Amino acid sequence: MTTQEFLGKQNFTIHTQIVSDSCPSNIALIKYWGKYENQIPANPSISYTLNHCKTNTSMEFLADEPFSVQTFLAGNEEVKFAEKIEKYFKNIEEYLPWILKGKYIIRTENTFPHSSGIASSASGFGAIAKCLMKLDGIFSNELSEEESLRKASFLARLGSGSACRSLYNGLVVWGTSDEVEGSSDLFAVQYPDAEIHDIFKNFNDWVLLIHEGQKSVSSTVGHGLMNTNPYAERRFQEARENFVPMKEILKNGDMERFIKLVEHEALTLHAMMMMSDPAFILMKTGTMEVINKVWDFRREAGLPLFFTLDAGANVHLLFPNNGSEDQIKTFIETELLQHTQKNGVVKDVMTF
Ligand code: DP6
Repeated sequence: MTTQEFLGKQNFTIHTQIVSDSCPSNIALIKYWGKYENQIPANPSISYTLNHCKTNTSMEFLADEPFSVQTFLAGNEEVKFAEKIEKYFKNIEEYLPWILKGKYIIRTENTFPHSSGIASSASGFGAIAKCLMKLDGIFSNELSEEESLRKASFLARLGSGSACRSLYNGLVVWGTSDEVEGSSDLFAVQYPDAEIHDIFKNFNDWVLLIHEGQKSVSSTVGHGLMNTNPYAERRFQEARENFVPMKEILKNGDMERFIKLVEHEALTLHAMMMMSDPAFILMKTGTMEVINKVWDFRREAGLPLFFTLDAGANVHLLFPNNGSEDQIKTFIETELLQHTQKNGVVKDVMTF
């Protein structure tokens, strides 16, 4: 598979147009952490696409104007974001040859709090890529729906790696894995529905907002730290290997092994940051307190509540809707919410 299939054709007709679309965020179970040039991941990853945490974007394309980008986030002009998008558009011109032939006014809003640590770059770039592919459909009209979605995933990846997974629902894989047919480093693919036990098709993700400040390491810097981390190669290998048990678990519904694997992935991500130079500790006291309470709860109540983490202090609490969810929700409200700032929690679900 090469980037050849995504190159844009030169026959297009542009005109002023406004399109809009929305895209959800996602939460990784096997993590992407480390990349090569041109947004090629160092290892495959798999994530759940969220149902409710989304970015809604409208894109106005003014065909008669010189190329420029203006962006508004929740109604406020964001100059820094516009600069980033301008750079991104220049970077993807070979795939959308019309892209620099007009002015853009992009209005975007998230359905979740900015400080939540929920990946707004994933949903944000996902929504922008979808809008671009809508314009492409209008201007050159040559791809099928499936091809257009795949190209949106390809383009989203070039904006932010994890964004390419947000284009698909359910469980989604990005990065070549021998365990997943059709998987690619260039775009994401949906994990086959027939290979997923029902228990994994109706899950909760409650994000505890432990710390709402600015993250102390951006993901760009974070991925870069893997270039000099002496444990990096072993980590990439482990992530690849983790697809073997993950595939078995997803098929047979082994919740105990799922929990162990997902928590291990989260802790490994943070361990990698602790072993980087410079080192980062992104967990806060509240993160640790929640993790310990989750472990105690699991031991004592025997119910399937577990966690994953992104590159930040907030805790994603995962649990299935399998009859035990009311008891788990009560435990979260009474025991875990106290470790957040201002009782902050974002409640999402993954159903498919
Ligand atoms: C920890 O996709 O935000 O969330 O490609 O530099 O934009 P860039 O990085 P990004 O990294 C996400 C890392 C992660 C794990 C994951 O989502 O797989």
